[in-house]
Amino acid sequence: MVTGGCGFIGTCFIRYLLLESDFSGHIINVDKLTYAGNPENLADIQKSIPGRYTFIKADICDPDAMNRVFESHEIDTICNFAAESHVDRSIVAPDAFIKTNIEGTFNLLETARRNSDRLVLFHHVSTDEVYGSLGPEGLFTEQTPYHPNSPYAASKAASDHLVRAYGKTYALPVTISNCSNNYGPYQFPEKLIPLMILNAFENKPLPVYGDGGNIRDWLFVNDHCRAVWEIMKAGRRGQTYNVGGRCEMRNLDTVNMICRFVDDLVPREDHKPRNDLITFVKDRPGHDLRYAIDCSKLEKELGWTPTESFETGLKKTVQWYLDHPQWVQRVKSGEYREWIKRHYT
Ligand code: NAD
Ligand code: TYD
Repeated sequence: MVTGGCGFIGTCFIRYLLLESDFSGHIINVDKLTYAGNPENLADIQKSIPGRYTFIKADICDPDAMNRVFESHEIDTICNFAAESHVDRSIVAPDAFIKTNIEGTFNLLETARRNSDRLVLFHHVSTDEVYGSLGPEGLFTEQTPYHPNSPYAASKAASDHLVRAYGKTYALPVTISNCSNNYGPYQFPEKLIPLMILNAFENKPLPVYGDGGNIRDWLFVNDHCRAVWEIMKAGRRGQTYNVGGRCEMRNLDTVNMICRFVDDLVPREDHKPRNDLITFVKDRPGHDLRYAIDCSKLEKELGWTPTESFETGLKKTVQWYLDHPQWVQRVKSGEYREWIKRHYT
């Protein structure tokens, strides 16, 4: 059972498992289809390999719905991606973050506990933001104390603690991964990279928070999905694994790079560089300065290593958004929600 499989990373994970990995089972994708969930991302999978993929529209906070899924589909493994995931939204309206990220995870853990006789693994997908913010030096390790600064990070931290506690208290087989910032195809265009790509295509302002000096450690989404699968297969139960790209970038440098790639692919009529669209805007409240992950535990224990460089991964991502104008248009206009209404209500 994959939760949140219609979101950005969940979509990539399901595609990776069914199309590229050695996974041979059946996936039940449970997703509530919030604004960030788009089942069209997997429509081709549903058509081409229906025998190995089932979609169920349900809320992880609903105990009866989760029980029904467990009983009717003989679930033995959970990979929990479902979450409210955007920091800016958590600052404006934290309620849904508390509900889904904390109560939803709690509800899934309770469902798993009731079915513990057949549970092989509960894997929880989390973020490096639980560790807080770094100064100019150092890296987050699995031993770094939790120090979340945004409501999003705090809600993910709480969910991590619950997963760990269920592992200790009830001997549930659990693993947790804490990953750095992802980018790649199918990311909802509210996050930095897709927002900047799409604004650059349309010659719209590129809003950089503060002075653009904040640093994020970027990982191509396929590398993250491969890491999650390696941890699920061979990670030690009860353990946490950090996942990161060893790719620290200042936001301003990231945006400049996007401008360069967009200029190369679709030059403006006047051939002016897109970086004149960069607009410095009011900083995010509580904006974490720097994230950087030490992923050596994952590398040493499971032999995982990131394969995509930021340069190649970002080029692929810009190209993907350029090649999928219909997806972009439907997501930006909210048109896909009409499709969801027709199919799932
Ligand atoms: P996303 O916002 O793109 O997708 C979230 C998905 O969860 C959507 O399909 C949504 O419909 C679903 N969902 C939300 N609430 C639900 C509920 N109550 N019940 C069932 N489904 C629900 O998020 P993402 O970027 O794909 O992130 C997936 C996971 O990875 C999250 O747990 C996030 O915290 C974690 N993570 C994300 C990043 C990143 O850079 N995006 C980095 C590290 C970890
Ligand atoms: P984001 O993609 O929201 O991820 P997170 O906050 O989880 O790291 O933002 C990445 C970085 O980019 C973060 O430092 C905030 C910054 N940012 C901007 O400067 N402008 C924007 O419009 C957005 C969405 C983010």
